[in-house]
Amino acid sequence: MCGIFGIVTQEEQTLGPILIAAARRLSYRGYDSVGCATLHEDGSIDLRKDVGKVDDVAERLNFAEMSGRRGITQLRWATFGVPSQVNSQPHLDSDGDLVGAHNGNVVNNIELRAAFIAEGMTVRSTNDGETCVHAVERYVDRGYSMLEAIRHAYEDLEGDYAFVIGRAGEEELYAFKKGSGLVAGLGEGFSCVSSDLPSILPLTRHVLRMEDGEIVVLRAERLTLIDVATGQPISREIEEVTEGMDAAQKGGYAHFMLKEIHEQPQVAQELLHLFDASPHVAPFVEQMRRARNLYLIGCGTSYHACVAGSVYLARLAGRPAIPVLAPQFIPQYAPTVGPEDVGIFVSQSGETKDVLNALHAARANEMQALGLVNVIGSTLTKKCDRYLPLACGYEISVPATKTFTNQMLAFLYLAMRLGGHETESLQQLPALIEQTLRETEPQVAALVDSLRAWDEFYCLGYGSTYPIALEGALKLKEITYAHCEGMLSTEFKHGPLAAVRESYPVLFVSGPEDVPLMISGINETTVRGGKTIVIAEEDPRLRANAHKMITLPAAGPLLTPLLAVLPLQLLSYQLSLARGYDPDFPRNLSKTLTVD
Ligand code: M6R
Repeated sequence: MCGIFGIVTQEEQTLGPILIAAARRLSYRGYDSVGCATLHEDGSIDLRKDVGKVDDVAERLNFAEMSGRRGITQLRWATFGVPSQVNSQPHLDSDGDLVGAHNGNVVNNIELRAAFIAEGMTVRSTNDGETCVHAVERYVDRGYSMLEAIRHAYEDLEGDYAFVIGRAGEEELYAFKKGSGLVAGLGEGFSCVSSDLPSILPLTRHVLRMEDGEIVVLRAERLTLIDVATGQPISREIEEVTEGMDAAQKGGYAHFMLKEIHEQPQVAQELLHLFDASPHVAPFVEQMRRARNLYLIGCGTSYHACVAGSVYLARLAGRPAIPVLAPQFIPQYAPTVGPEDVGIFVSQSGETKDVLNALHAARANEMQALGLVNVIGSTLTKKCDRYLPLACGYEISVPATKTFTNQMLAFLYLAMRLGGHETESLQQLPALIEQTLRETEPQVAALVDSLRAWDEFYCLGYGSTYPIALEGALKLKEITYAHCEGMLSTEFKHGPLAAVRESYPVLFVSGPEDVPLMISGINETTVRGGKTIVIAEEDPRLRANAHKMITLPAAGPLLTPLLAVLPLQLLSYQLSLARGYDPDFPRNLSKTLTVD
């Protein structure tokens, strides 16, 4: 997703190489266009931007020669407005003396844009970054100082975003944070601001971490933090970051996996905002609606999201959809498909060879292809008719966590749209995810000692929690090296029950509607000596029958599966550590499987 960087220096100098390097450091976020603006002491602004990769655009437009005392660079991933030169960022205001760029989504972009045009401003693009610039222009033109204009603009701009702006003839840059990440830094003779900490660490280790509702005023020799609500300065010590780049990238967590687990409330929120605002969702849903047969295709964790997707689509839209492991699509379905059929190809990396092979087989019979993909610019995003991003940012840890949550959420959202349901109820999800993580982490920790020595487990679910059982089992296998089989709870008695002996651990994941069925399965296990651990919202019937419960917040049948996976991720993580392994880099595995 987008990234911004701004710098203010003591003297006019060549800023191009600094801006290019910052853009390269932010490029992991995914983008389709890049731009740089520099502000000179004589009041002129040099703005260069276009669609393409950082190095290509930088070379073509000669970013390296750009000079000034202040500079801004932005990487854009298109949400509002197609990827194009005019929609690329930074943007100028009507008369070209303000320049700014944003990261995130301004959800009332269309309304504000119309208002600015009606007020006589020159609006050049359809991009919401430009809307941020005009939102400040509106108040500057009414005679407010930059700081006051920004405070008013902050009130007008709805959504989650961060924004940096400068005005010709001044010495400062201003940046503010409302939902998206923003960190400021102070070095010898310069100050800077960026979407994330790792991208400024090569320049300085003295940083101010910003909170929502704060403006930072950047001058070469100091940073001033202002409370947007009161306009008063906020006193906060500049912190010296002592950790290495690796630790900084882990954001204070011991492992990337734990960081990514805890990013789930935020990425879920970002996905919801993105989908609510995206013009690409409606045609995506329409293509699903018109499909003769609908296939949901992926591998590993992404396949489990496909299973969850088929349950959501059946339940919310009455739409049958066939989840299929990508390599099996080729012999089982590819010979039968045609141009009326649609496949949704689901992948974190967008580079999984098994998935691309299935896509090629589908294309050979002219099947339509949609994508749900995390890595923008990956092969899958280029080869599908259209795709929706998963909006998770970079997932470094080999075990997929936040991408699974957003894959499931994407399917839930699409199923609701296809079924004609309002999606507003999903707004509660980020807070529920946060609550679940907070409340289940200690419950999981309390179980680890009793489970660490076991080399085999079962993980059982039913209906919408069946894919969660599959996913929980995969996580446990992948990073604890214990064998864990995920299966439909009702299948357990058809054979695997034979494995149960004294204290044998069996995990049950129950939705609120499946409690009576689960109770049968739990008892079939406990009477044979098995130890049953149930993940579900509080229910006296389950508590009475299970040995242990990991209690989820009450969220109803649609959201419970999305919450139930969280303690399974935490359990896998904690067991991996307890057994002496590195959860981020499990043996024999690679994050992206580009081989058959
Ligand atoms: O990048 P993809 O989503 O296509 O990857 C598919 C699987 O390799 C992946 O989900 C794998 O199962 C995960 N590492 C499991 O945590």
